[in-house]
Amino acid sequence: MASPESRPAPSVPTRIVRVDLAPRPDGAARAYDVLIGKGLLAAIREILASHQIDGPYSIINDVRLRDWLHDLENRLERVSLSSVPSGESSKSIEQVATLLQRLAAQKIPRSGTIIALGGGVIGDLGGFVAATYLRGIALVQVPTTLLAMVDSSVGGKTGVNLPEGKNLVGAFHQPRLVVADLATLATLPAREFAAGMAEVIKYGAIRDRALFDRVANGVTPVDDDMADIVEKCVTIKARIVERDEFETKGERALLNFGHTLGHAIEKATGYTRYLHGEAIALGMRAAAWLSVWHPETRLPEADARAIEQALRASNLPLTLDPTIDRATILAALGNDKKVAADGGNRWVLLKKLGEATSGNQVDESLVERSLDLLRP
Ligand code: NAD
Ligand code: GLY
Repeated sequence: MASPESRPAPSVPTRIVRVDLAPRPDGAARAYDVLIGKGLLAAIREILASHQIDGPYSIINDVRLRDWLHDLENRLERVSLSSVPSGESSKSIEQVATLLQRLAAQKIPRSGTIIALGGGVIGDLGGFVAATYLRGIALVQVPTTLLAMVDSSVGGKTGVNLPEGKNLVGAFHQPRLVVADLATLATLPAREFAAGMAEVIKYGAIRDRALFDRVANGVTPVDDDMADIVEKCVTIKARIVERDEFETKGERALLNFGHTLGHAIEKATGYTRYLHGEAIALGMRAAAWLSVWHPETRLPEADARAIEQALRASNLPLTLDPTIDRATILAALGNDKKVAADGGNRWVLLKKLGEATSGNQVDESLVERSLDLLRP
């Protein structure tokens, strides 16, 4: 059973964010900790023991993370492995089937634990496998990208893609523990780090002006305050997930700032031209100006310009590749998962930096104006 108490890892300076979800009707605990620190993988055995998370362990890992895998594997007993190719194409039903069969062959029991070591792809895939194998077994998320640390490893959304669209199959399955070892960011390519910064900027824009100001001039993976920045983002996400776990109350939807247009850009470009965070950066620039023009939000222009400057400082794109057909983006907007029941898109807009609202309708003419803005 999950420990009701938060316990730090022995000997490694650790920030702990508690995701305080109510227990299940049968009394089983669902609250969990997100541990943030540099060098946590070296203490993984003690960490799992102190959270009473038992083996056998089955590690699902991104094949590119061999060095970090050895760190983990060599410290655990009763452990088996499944390496998965890097990249979005691994978030597939076929890969789920392969992994489920692997778990069965490894004879992982219901009391076992899946450890998902990698970025958001592995977290979503491994999480979905954990949600479905034997109707659900324990999951430990070990995020190794900035995006996964601040966003995808926390909150329980798991899933895979279909040829018809992204994340069309999934389940809510909260982890038992999240271990974000900041040391892993040392090997993360700069472009991937920048993509994660888009989500960091998003948290500041929707909830925390001080965080926004702190990251507005750019951040590097080795900055001293990286633990603090990740902790602040995770705390914002944790509080939102606690209040609106299943995204039924409008609050979790705030996390989709920049995502309405961002998803359309990803879809229109076949999920290959832009990383998720890059598409979200473009979407946030557009949504910031929509917030300026929208009669109910009237974001000060200076705030929209500050968002542009923050995206620039993190080496994120501000303009769209001119070869991308604008009509394809508008068509993709019509198919966004966040389209409301009445057929119109619902946008997350800003009232000011640090304060967002969800469920806003936006005239198509304004959407087109925001696309004009993204022209190089
Ligand atoms: P990713 O998992 O593909 O990782 C990005 C790249 O970095 C990959 O090539 C990977 O091999 C490499 N990598 C990862 N960690 C590394 C490290 N420490 N050192 C060197 N290389 C490393 O992508 P991502 O950006 O982490 O996640 C994107 C996915 O997350 C998408 O599928 C998206 O749908 C999903 N997502 C889910 C949620 C959620 O709430 N569940 C939220 C946001 C995004
Ligand atoms: N990434 C958005 C969410 O978890 O709700």
